[in-house]
Amino acid sequence: MSSVPVASEIEVLDLRHFSARQLRPLLEREAEVWRDRLRWDYRSSTELLLQYLDSRILQGFVALDKGRVCGYTFCVFESAKAVIGDAFAAGHTTKADADAARVLLMHILEMLRHMPGVERVESQLLLFNAGEFADLFAGPEYAVYPRLFLECELAAQARERESAGVPAELELSPWADGDYRAAGELIYACYVGHSDGRINDQYRSLHGTLRFLHNIVRFPGCGFFEAGLSWMLRERRSGALVGMVLCSRVGAQVAHITQLCIAQAYRGRGLGRLLMGCCAQGLQRAGFAAITLTVTEGNSPAVHLYESFGFTLRHRFDAMVLDTAFKPR
Ligand SMILES: CC(C)(COP(=O)(O)OP(=O)(O)OC[C@H]1O[C@@H](n2cnc3c(N)ncnc32)[C@H](O)[C@@H]1OP(=O)(O)O)[C@@H](O)C(=O)NCCC(=O)NCCS
Repeated sequence: MSSVPVASEIEVLDLRHFSARQLRPLLEREAEVWRDRLRWDYRSSTELLLQYLDSRILQGFVALDKGRVCGYTFCVFESAKAVIGDAFAAGHTTKADADAARVLLMHILEMLRHMPGVERVESQLLLFNAGEFADLFAGPEYAVYPRLFLECELAAQARERESAGVPAELELSPWADGDYRAAGELIYACYVGHSDGRINDQYRSLHGTLRFLHNIVRFPGCGFFEAGLSWMLRERRSGALVGMVLCSRVGAQVAHITQLCIAQAYRGRGLGRLLMGCCAQGLQRAGFAAITLTVTEGNSPAVHLYESFGFTLRHRFDAMVLDTAFKPR
């Protein structure tokens, strides 16, 4: 087993040398941090990850402190892109933990930067603060986009929402499986030229957008999709989709908005707010206590909408993009 000594006590080894059993305590600790910091029940993601670990297909690294597992990082590949799915160290509290996470990130970035066929690396490390790895992501080949993790307590919002009505020419219906293709097409159209396409290149093609939707609707990695509490807005006459809000259950009483978009021609008419209100009302009736979401700090129409709706900042983190094809002059 080859190892790379990086600091007096920490050594870094290939993730594929480790079994799920060896990493389970670390991942269970991580699930606690997700719950405490982001109100997110991460346990289904943990189990999924443990299955992948046992099949030894994930690439990444494990950090050991005096021989004891204290951190891990992994990535997944989509054609010429790698996504760093995570970097986590022990208790996620001490300076030593932060150092271990930093060392792991350095290793995985170095590996991906030199991996044949990898042209782009994306990562959103939600457990870390914006700027925490600013020195690692510095340089012309990197772009960093601060993002906001917002939350809204539903009980505090009830009265204001009840006033919103659906315009006569439009109709609302909950998500149905037959909406899949039209929803992908609308998301793709809504994000043409959008800053989020620089963070996640799935937004830049219809194929990528359908894949993004697949992850939200059919895959438990981003919570459990709530079809009956996700809303589609369409023109009554033509049936054309003009907007949508999608949400997933991420905790016992917490929902996460995974998508909100309104077709260009319909923006600025209060429809984004209407969809949020409709979604929040349904969630509250279904027993949810709070909604969370993430938004790029520079996406001012969306940030404005969420803030005026009653969302407040819980956490600020970075989305990082590395263009490995970039050749400095
Ligand atoms: C964000 C988005 C859903 C807003 O939809 P919308 O129907 O235009 O929003 P609304 O008309 O309901 O406006 C809601 C509030 O946001 C404000 N707002 C809307 N567009 C704005 C803009 N371009 N600049 C500044 N504020 C804006 C409105 O003034 C309104 O605030 P107010 O009630 O205090 O006046 C829409 O711009 C969109 O689909 N964007 C692309 C996808 C996206 O970014 N989704 C969010 C990802 S997290």
